[in-house]
Amino acid sequence: MKEELSRLKSEAIESLQRISQASELEPFRVRFLGRKGGSLTGIMRRLSEVSKEDRPKLGQLANTVKEEITTLFEQKKKDLAQHSGTQTKKGLDLSLPGRRIPFGKLHPVTQVMEEMCAIFEGMGFAVAEGPDVETDHYNFEALNIPKHHPARDMHDTFYVSDSILLRTHTSPMQARIMETQDPPLRYIAPGKVYRCDSDITHTPMFVQVEGFLVDRDVSFADLKGVLTSFLQQIFTKDLAVRFRPSFFPFTEPSAEVDIACVICGGEGCRVCKRTGWIEILGAGLIDPEVMKMVGYDPDEYSGFAFGLGVERIAMLKYGINDIRLYYENDLRFLSQF
Ligand code: FA5
Repeated sequence: MKEELSRLKSEAIESLQRISQASELEPFRVRFLGRKGGSLTGIMRRLSEVSKEDRPKLGQLANTVKEEITTLFEQKKKDLAQHSGTQTKKGLDLSLPGRRIPFGKLHPVTQVMEEMCAIFEGMGFAVAEGPDVETDHYNFEALNIPKHHPARDMHDTFYVSDSILLRTHTSPMQARIMETQDPPLRYIAPGKVYRCDSDITHTPMFVQVEGFLVDRDVSFADLKGVLTSFLQQIFTKDLAVRFRPSFFPFTEPSAEVDIACVICGGEGCRVCKRTGWIEILGAGLIDPEVMKMVGYDPDEYSGFAFGLGVERIAMLKYGINDIRLYYENDLRFLSQF
């Protein structure tokens, strides 16, 4: 039995040396160390057949051989794991596929703004952009809103200095373009605007798309036609629209346009302040005073203008019940668009 054990040990060492792949480890273990039918177990079971005197020594020897083979086996296992090229000491599996870097995409408000611009471009409007930091002159005075005029209260303005401010609307672009170009004109001016305002339908920074057209014989019917066509294209589903008389110092007559609240279906809720309607734009025929200030003859030319709130349109398009969600930068929200 002593010889058998030493033969078994040499055989096990030789077999281990030949092993080059992790898949060969388990058959080795079963063959030499396995509880059922393993060579060592077989020898140990036969210990009961040897004489009482020899049994302790042989038992001890069998145990030592088992320990030696087990130690060599464990060592081999470690070596293979380290050198297999798939695992490093830190357990890093270099064969795993890399993590995908998610691609960013355009903000939903930018997506809607671009869609809106494309619709107006399709109607022949050119795109122009102007400064976010504006002068009091273009933001107010050139739009027929002199200093101390009560209409200034309509906008909660962020002032940079007495004469410089963050533009409160995109309408200054009307004056900026009209004073440098002669009619006929057909422009849209998208961009950020700022007001000290925040609730579920107001944000301190929001995006407007200004639009205006100046030519001979432009009427309110032209304005209504352009806006109706735009609304049909931007809202793929049929939403109720209403034109409501309003007031802006730079348009006469003026109107505001509301869309039936998509959140409550027009029944009245928190978002539409129980009215069933959400206001999306202000519009009107360009006031003759504004025309005169840029040197146009109001008897020869007329025009219309409108200013659309992009977030409001995005809210109605996607059924969003709080405008501030657009600017919380929560990727769980933003990645849905
Ligand atoms: C104006 O800003 C005018 N300049 C629009 C205009 C242009 C009238 C040309 C006539 C001719 P108003 O303050 O109503 O109007 O804003 C226009 C739209 O911007 C609103 O209908 C609304 O959709 C959106 N809006 C206004 N304030 C906020 C706000 N704080 N947050 C998000 N959207 C807003």
